[in-house]
Amino acid sequence: MGWQADRGGTALRRVSFERRDLRADDIAVCVDYCGVCHTDLHSIHAYRDNGGAPLVPGHEFTGVVTDIGRDVTRFAVGDAVAVGNIVDSCGACAMCLKGQENFCHEFPTLTYGGTDRHDGTTTLGAYSREYVVRDGFAHPLPAGLDPAAAAPLLCAGVTVWEPLRALGVGPGSRVAVVGLGGLGHLAVKFAVALGADTTVISRSADKAEDARRFGAADLVVSTDQERMAAVKERFDVVIDTIAVPHDLAPYLKLVALDGTLSQVGYLGPVTVEGLDLLIGRKKLSSAGSGGRPETAAMLEFCAEHGVTADIELVPSARVNEALDRLGRNDVRYRFVLDMADLV
Ligand SMILES: NC(=O)c1ccc[n+]([C@@H]2O[C@H](COP(=O)([O-])OP(=O)(O)OC[C@H]3O[C@@H](n4cnc5c(N)ncnc54)[C@H](OP(=O)(O)O)[C@@H]3O)[C@@H](O)[C@H]2O)c1
Ligand SMILES: [Zn+2]
Ligand SMILES: [Zn+2]
Repeated sequence: MGWQADRGGTALRRVSFERRDLRADDIAVCVDYCGVCHTDLHSIHAYRDNGGAPLVPGHEFTGVVTDIGRDVTRFAVGDAVAVGNIVDSCGACAMCLKGQENFCHEFPTLTYGGTDRHDGTTTLGAYSREYVVRDGFAHPLPAGLDPAAAAPLLCAGVTVWEPLRALGVGPGSRVAVVGLGGLGHLAVKFAVALGADTTVISRSADKAEDARRFGAADLVVSTDQERMAAVKERFDVVIDTIAVPHDLAPYLKLVALDGTLSQVGYLGPVTVEGLDLLIGRKKLSSAGSGGRPETAAMLEFCAEHGVTADIELVPSARVNEALDRLGRNDVRYRFVLDMADLV
């Protein structure tokens, strides 16, 4: 059972489908909770406009192992697990060997809309009650993490965790997070927990109280020219999570000498004025998803520091309402679907 996109509309409908029989290194997972990522919305819109293989979204989930393949030793039936947006990779290229399976040269198999490396079928996501995954791409869910609030860590979380770590964010760093949504609020929590002085840049003044609750020192409203000018060249790292095409110039201005703007939200073409990089030797970067070692490190960090997402938990039957509200920026700060209503 799951929720599948319909050609010609944006509403998902409940469908019945079969998962593959377990291969030797597969586990079957009863999906309990799946986060609703803005990428799901982009994918549903693309499917509505262009069609393609059947689309069941969902790529950040937690659940319990219900069966294991004959070679599986990492997991046993009953284990709590977490799975993100990649479920396989070649395992042999330079990226895979560095533990950056998310950048696999053969392209990692995505949790939905990906191509299975063995049988060539299109993967169907975790807006469903069951998922079958190679054991190496499931992570033990640390005890102490609420499984519903932990689900968004597996896409939203690791997507901002990797660049924060790779850019050396720690005590003394100054970090700005642009866009306080699913990715943004986790970026704030991580940056704060890593010891950085953290500021939110947002269109939404009414998110200021939440920003402070997440540990940010301040929220600067992006349309307030005076306040934006006051934080010019202030940040070593700016994480931009805005979900739509936008001008990077106002955010590059916030980057300090030799600092970095990491654009992780909008992944299409961007135009940059060379001088906006030249002045201050600024760097423009991006990131997406996470390799297995960093995903595991993030989960440990979250267990240690008590970091999970702020979620609105809804029965999976309300998925269309959740997607609609996500599209209207009416979410504080991640919808998570409770799959218990799928039998
Ligand atoms: N790189 C990756 O691998 C990866 C992984 C997951 C998601 N993504 C992408 O990251 C983006 C954010 O995902 P999300 O799930 O965090 O979405 P989200 O919860 O909707 O958050 C996006 C935030 O961006 C800001 N925003 C939205 N529309 C805007 C606009 N027109 N102008 C300026 N700001 C706007 C809003 O923050 P304020 O109200 O604070 O302004 C909003 O809360 C999506 O495009 C998604 O596809 C990328
Ligand atoms: Zn996602
Ligand atoms: Zn590879």
